[in-house]
Amino acid sequence: MKKFYRYCPLLSLLVFVSSAFAQNTAPDINEELWYKNSIIYSLEVGTFKDSDGNGTGDFEGLTGQLDYLKSLGIDAIWLAPFHTSPKLDDGYDVANYYDVDPQYGSPGDFAEFMYQASKHGIRVIMDLVLNHTSDQHPWFQQARADKNSRYRNWYVWSKERPKDWNKGMAFPGVQKETWTYDKKAGEYYFHRFYDFQPDLNFENPDVRNEAQRILGFWMNQGVSGFRLDAVPFIIDLPKTSAEKPEHMFELISEFRRFVQWRKGDALLLGEANVLPDENKEYFGQNGDRLHTMFNFYANQYLFYVMASGDLEPFRKALVDTKKIPGTAQWAYFLRNHDEIDLGRLTEEQRNKVYQAFGPEKNMQLYDRGIRRRLAPMLNNDRKRMELAYSLVFSLPGTPVIRYGDELGMGDDLRLKERIAVRTPMQWTNQKNAGFTSADKPFRPIIDKEPFSYKQINVATERQDPNSLLNWTAKLIRIRKECPEIGLGNWQLVEVGSPEVLAIRYNYQGKSVMMVHNFSKDPKQIRIPAQAEGDKELFSLTRNNKLTSANGGFTVDLEGYGYNWFRVGSAIR
Ligand code: GLC
Repeated sequence: MKKFYRYCPLLSLLVFVSSAFAQNTAPDINEELWYKNSIIYSLEVGTFKDSDGNGTGDFEGLTGQLDYLKSLGIDAIWLAPFHTSPKLDDGYDVANYYDVDPQYGSPGDFAEFMYQASKHGIRVIMDLVLNHTSDQHPWFQQARADKNSRYRNWYVWSKERPKDWNKGMAFPGVQKETWTYDKKAGEYYFHRFYDFQPDLNFENPDVRNEAQRILGFWMNQGVSGFRLDAVPFIIDLPKTSAEKPEHMFELISEFRRFVQWRKGDALLLGEANVLPDENKEYFGQNGDRLHTMFNFYANQYLFYVMASGDLEPFRKALVDTKKIPGTAQWAYFLRNHDEIDLGRLTEEQRNKVYQAFGPEKNMQLYDRGIRRRLAPMLNNDRKRMELAYSLVFSLPGTPVIRYGDELGMGDDLRLKERIAVRTPMQWTNQKNAGFTSADKPFRPIIDKEPFSYKQINVATERQDPNSLLNWTAKLIRIRKECPEIGLGNWQLVEVGSPEVLAIRYNYQGKSVMMVHNFSKDPKQIRIPAQAEGDKELFSLTRNNKLTSANGGFTVDLEGYGYNWFRVGSAIR
């Protein structure tokens, strides 16, 4: 019979489709979307692992640690920019889109890394900075030197100084203007970020073509998608206003069409810190623009609830960002490589977060954020770190974690701006934390208690069954047993305590539910039994099982406690 189907593909398809209907389980196309239930791990090649002893991490070093990442359980690596760059913005100032910075290895080392990652079942998403280049990029060098150069119109120029020359800065407090006079060019050029990052002019079809070349080139090298840097700024028209510019949203559709034709399952993960009513423009009405965006909006209220215990604004942020196209997905995170942006909170809310997590001026940045790692912000309090990570893994989206956060790594506030949270990965308690054999790593390693590499490192934590590392690996495993989170419908559930967030996911007749207590005090909550099957709740994170009585479940939570439940059955 098997043979018969092999020779009759049409018939086998018919049998498959009709059997799906017979069981009343229509195949869900969303199950094809790998990003719906993946765990993404963000890292920088330079700070991860050095293989040749020159003090900087490289692709060979990273390749050697794929076993570690695999055993941690992550599905995809988000690789920070690794192109040739003067590194005045740590690689976000690109001088050649088509190469690998020799500091990190050769193109061959990159290809080997891609091969080994795929062998380990790990996808690679690369950061792509299209909004601007470095001012050292040959395109800009030619553009400024010669009015008639084909690259002149690749950037945004003005003969006069625009009225809003000192408005719309991405890095207020550090950056003084967005239009800067270039002597060589004899004109002003626009730069949303630092003055060494001139913006590309995406109104110019040549620039759009080149962007597609770059996307195509890297997809051919095997990447599974892109973390698109600064999306609202790629598509803005600064001449319409530096502060409130008009946007060319159609450009995102263009990128999407291009990547999807070239590689059907390629991902566009956008960095776009926008308001809830703007989301539809970025995801597209029919889900035909970005597949995924970081939920910066909810993230700010997440830090606010952690600082204040006041849950309502976070609940509202989740609800306000709930309606997105079926194929779209949020990415949730705690910390990334930048500051935590608290710009959308009220001044009072922001001050509460500052007070709790970044009280000193040196911990704050750009008049809106905090430049610290999570563990120091939470005073190294294990209970609160678990609460925070458990929460992020239970939110309706893809969890993104930052290298070293699985260990509880600290920051170095002596380093400039956001570099504070980009110190080398701590592997062992030996010289330079096992990061490099060089005498001097390119960036200092954290050696101050309580975050010193002597305690906080992979090798030590691996041995300790109660370490944060082992706890995180377990959390990842549990998250993977709950595909309902990425695929299902969710709702917030009233449990009779304003400080406890309860979220329930239903997917194809299966349900999971997670509760998180933001109060330092223990809470008793009441989970209503919603469906016929709600007779028992099986905890996935603790050793308990609850039985329904009088239409619901009574659950005790410790201060900052949490629990994950599968409804009705111990396994899926
Ligand atoms: C994004 C990156 C940030 C970088 C900036 C300019 O916001 O996350 O690190 O400095 O873009 O490229």
